[in-house]
Amino acid sequence: MLMLVVSMDGTNDSVITEFVLLGLSASLEMKILLFLFFFSFYVGIVLGNLFIVFTVVCDPHLHSPMYFLLANLSLIDLGLSSTTAPRMITDIFSEHKAISFPGCMIQMFFVHVMGGTEMVLLVASSMAYDRYTAICKPLHYLTIMSRKTCICFVVTAWVIGMIHAVSQFVCIVNLPFCGPNKIDSFYCDFPWVAVLACTDSNWVEHVVTANSGLISMGTFFLLIMSYIFILVTVRHHSSAGLSKAFSKLSAHITVVFLFFTPCFFVYVWEFPTLSLDKFLAILDFVVTPLLNPAIYTFRNKDMKVAMKRLSRKIMSSKETP
Ligand SMILES: *[C@@H]1O[C@H](CO)[C@@H](O)[C@H](O)[C@H]1NC(C)=O
Repeated sequence: MLMLVVSMDGTNDSVITEFVLLGLSASLEMKILLFLFFFSFYVGIVLGNLFIVFTVVCDPHLHSPMYFLLANLSLIDLGLSSTTAPRMITDIFSEHKAISFPGCMIQMFFVHVMGGTEMVLLVASSMAYDRYTAICKPLHYLTIMSRKTCICFVVTAWVIGMIHAVSQFVCIVNLPFCGPNKIDSFYCDFPWVAVLACTDSNWVEHVVTANSGLISMGTFFLLIMSYIFILVTVRHHSSAGLSKAFSKLSAHITVVFLFFTPCFFVYVWEFPTLSLDKFLAILDFVVTPLLNPAIYTFRNKDMKVAMKRLSRKIMSSKETP
């Protein structure tokens, strides 16, 4: 259905067949450095996140709602990064970084499906996981997270992600594009494409700002509130617990800031001419998708044990043919 809309509008009203990405302009040395940096990070994202999903699915000890949630988060991290990183990496050395009209539309759509879903899942995971590790374990509380709640979280995240992306997509895809086609970034996104339309697209920009701004700032405040709630609850019980909880949570809070700062600059702070936002966007696609598994999963004791168990299993199956 959506594809039909793309091709209809792509051939009827628009003369543009492709958009030109200006990418991350840099010297040759800088390009080599960026290439090595992004390439190794992306390999880390693919291997790390797939390994987590594989471990959770294969190890019966980890068949609990919390680990299913973390595995889902890993899958989304991988998906979000894959919407832009492979293209960005292969584009670094190319002179003419063109993306076809449908390609650009599809990229924007998936960036927002994955991005919106990721935000909601981050809230769910952090509420479930951080509360579990910061409050429940030291104070012997029980987690109230059933399998049903978990499925509910995952489904809600996808539904919100879809609504978030579709509602912006239908506004953009119907705009006429007739001339300007240069995007000062390494990927297509709604605010940058909306300004290229050959009509008064002010209202679309407002829709994008309201929609993306609302979901990113909304989930950001939910996360911050959740952290404050955890810290206040812990402090209530003991001040030693507070510093311990804070040191545990500080990595998560840092990643939350790294993830949401680019969203703020791209969607809320309306300065499209400022090219700071394209550099900040790198954080969302190649840095936080690697940090999430690192802090949520690899620091976790149960997960470490499960990974050892899994690698031992793989080793022994190799030795005995
Ligand atoms: C994602 O969450 C759902 C619901 O709990 C679960 O059934 C599914 O196995 C999870 N996906 C992965 C890859 O763990």
